Amino acid sequence: MADISKIIREAAVKAQRETDSEPEGKLTGECKFPIVCEVGGGLEGAIACGTSIGYVNGTKGWLVYRGYNCFDLAEHSSFEETSYLLLFGKLPTAKELADFKKNLASYAPLPREVVDVLSSVPTAKTHPMSALRTGVSVLGMLDDNAEDTSVEAETEVAIKLIAQMGPLAGAIARLRQGQKPVAPDPSLSLSGNFLYTMTGKKPDADYERIMDVSLILHADHGMNASTFTSMVVNSSLSDMYSSITAGIGSLKGPLHGGANERVLHDLDEIGSADKVDKWFAEARKAKRRVMGFGHRVYKAYDPRARILGPLADMMTQGTKHRTLYETAVKLDGVVCSELGAEKKIFPNVDFYSGLVYRAMGIETAMFTPIFAVSRISGWCARVLEYLAGNRIFRPRAIYTGPTKAEYVPVGQR
Ligand code: SDX
Repeated sequence: MADISKIIREAAVKAQRETDSEPEGKLTGECKFPIVCEVGGGLEGAIACGTSIGYVNGTKGWLVYRGYNCFDLAEHSSFEETSYLLLFGKLPTAKELADFKKNLASYAPLPREVVDVLSSVPTAKTHPMSALRTGVSVLGMLDDNAEDTSVEAETEVAIKLIAQMGPLAGAIARLRQGQKPVAPDPSLSLSGNFLYTMTGKKPDADYERIMDVSLILHADHGMNASTFTSMVVNSSLSDMYSSITAGIGSLKGPLHGGANERVLHDLDEIGSADKVDKWFAEARKAKRRVMGFGHRVYKAYDPRARILGPLADMMTQGTKHRTLYETAVKLDGVVCSELGAEKKIFPNVDFYSGLVYRAMGIETAMFTPIFAVSRISGWCARVLEYLAGNRIFRPRAIYTGPTKAEYVPVGQR
């Protein structure tokens, strides 16, 4: 397989060259409430809190975690190291990383009861994100410390969930295939164990590295809907398991993490590059959203798609998935030329990620759980950061109904 690091470096150079536009307004620096901000529908533009965990510059198409840009992390880091960085605010020393990995490995095996519950409900017939949501809830019921909502206790739960999300998603994939779940192998990385517990086979080294890059890229992304959901739930001093269960529910939606699965359904439906123009024209006429495109924050090409696209190119070379990739590239070009300049609509992280997973032979329905296997780190990091200076989230709404209605007894209505 081509040099994965070279692909990432080339993507970084291209990003730098193409996004030398002015950075966006004041979204960095000190955060002191009250803040005056113009708020659009869906809380667009609203400032929820201050954070030092990650920054998305929508104008320039930048993504940084604790100041490190996503290209450097994708090329040089690991999902374990990136998760540590998000949780604790610094890159770990060799000893800190070794201890963190040991802790993760000790937590990775799923309690028997989780597999029993998932085996007793129709896991194979329901959406795997519903099974993931259920599995995290059961993990919470099995954790004697689940109701301790101190930062220290919730940090330990975060480490448990980062360790267990991969094996849990893997177990769900196995149950969907009618297979018995396999226990994680403590000698494997988080990415490696996710692939192993999903397939029952020790992962190909290139696949493990590519999955690791994808998990790094999906780990955190500002106040996205699922992260904000987890924070809102935890802000009532509920517990980390409830917060993460809620985050999974939000990520499942096709406007959010669920888009990666829908993209592959669209590409399968289009069938080949020569059919893209007609399909897109029909989508435009029906005012349908093209899955995998557009973003509330990015008004430039999503830096994560800049890496995942070339990885999908490399992964599909000479395979039966090549036509799908060519269809995607054509759709990318058509949407960017029709909607890029006019509406600043470009591919987002979900457009190419599914092609990478399809080329690995992963079932389409499992694409969104993969997003959760990664985003668990960002969810937990931001829940913990906000918990340290907690204030319950409680926005207002403009009331548009009557204020002085006269009550009429039911007999007279
Ligand atoms: C993720 O927030 C995050 O950071 C999320 C995420 C993360 O890492 O957590 O980045 C991951 O969720 C990526 C997004 C995945 N979702 C999709 O790919 C679904 C398709 N995309 C859209 O539904 C949409 O772009 C959203 C939901 C992502 C953003 O929606 P907004 O900001 O509410 O935009 P909007 O609905 O106000 O649209 C503005 C205009 C509209 O046109 P007009 O009504 O003004 O004429 O842009 C159009 C929209 O119709 N538009 C699209 C479009 N997305 C927006 N038109 C066609 N296809 C699209 N995909």
